[in-house]
Amino acid sequence: MIIDWYPGHMKKARAQIIEILPKIDLVIEVLDARLPASSANPLLERLRGDKLCIKILNKSDLADPTVTKRWVEFLEKQQGVKAIPLESTNRRDVGLIPKLCRKLLPARTKAKKPLRVLVVGIPNVGKSTLINTLAGKKIARVGDKPAITTCPQQIDLRNGILLSDTPGILWPVLDNLAGAGRLAASGAIGDNAFDTLEVGLTTAQYLAEKYPALLLQRYKLSELPETPLETVVEIGRRRGCLIKGGDVDLHRAAELLLRELRSGKLGRISLERPEEVSGAFEKGVKLTAVDE
Ligand code: G4P
Repeated sequence: MIIDWYPGHMKKARAQIIEILPKIDLVIEVLDARLPASSANPLLERLRGDKLCIKILNKSDLADPTVTKRWVEFLEKQQGVKAIPLESTNRRDVGLIPKLCRKLLPARTKAKKPLRVLVVGIPNVGKSTLINTLAGKKIARVGDKPAITTCPQQIDLRNGILLSDTPGILWPVLDNLAGAGRLAASGAIGDNAFDTLEVGLTTAQYLAEKYPALLLQRYKLSELPETPLETVVEIGRRRGCLIKGGDVDLHRAAELLLRELRSGKLGRISLERPEEVSGAFEKGVKLTAVDE
């Protein structure tokens, strides 16, 4: 599988995080609830030290609620971490975040000093949506392109909280092929950066193992085909993804499966579980050479 990667970016990210962390009271790390390990960047965990951190399991409306619950328990075993699943467009749920920040840092609130909060997360995880909901209005962000040097943008929530938004800091770590495949399946990586059919086949296999009933129901199958390829073929046939001569267009069928997974049409699906990927969270995780 070929996945585009941005060499040198980790080094820059590290410098930016080291520079900003001393001016921050609390970190809000936005993760994708469907893949909290692969959507995290271990660099942040390594540099955070004992700084408090709220891990938002965003897009929880798309994730399997029982698995999300286990992720919350797992993440909260980390020092100084509070984990909350939410849907970042939901004002009521998002409204709990400022209260939680104040609760976690009572001394600063008592001293009437603004809480300085850093929001980080890989692209497409829902940071802008979350910030807009927190601010109650659309905030223009500086851009998430890795090549652009961006200064932290400060947003005064007018409730004693000063948000620092740092577009372009964190990118996913793609040195683990399974994790990169899950990121691709979730839609976090641009579609041009990977082979759609390959990711579609891996996804079909995963769904057949973990969520067979959802697969059967969505595509009105009486039984699961034996192989992922046959599953994709069957999906393509049923949805009219055909080429001249009546054969299935495998690429389009895989694309359709991924689209329906990402939009939640297949049901609430988690792409990874704590027991499968716990190593990825341990401090001191070896990063790719670009971090050296
Ligand atoms: P980013 O700043 O971290 O890059 O992410 P952004 O907020 O732009 O969100 C990326 C995509 O994820 C957007 O969809 C957004 O609507 C969607 N999203 C954010 N939070 C949630 C959530 O809690 N649940 C669900 N289901 N989706 C969420 P998009 O299709 O790229 O854009 P749009 O058409 O919605 O504007």
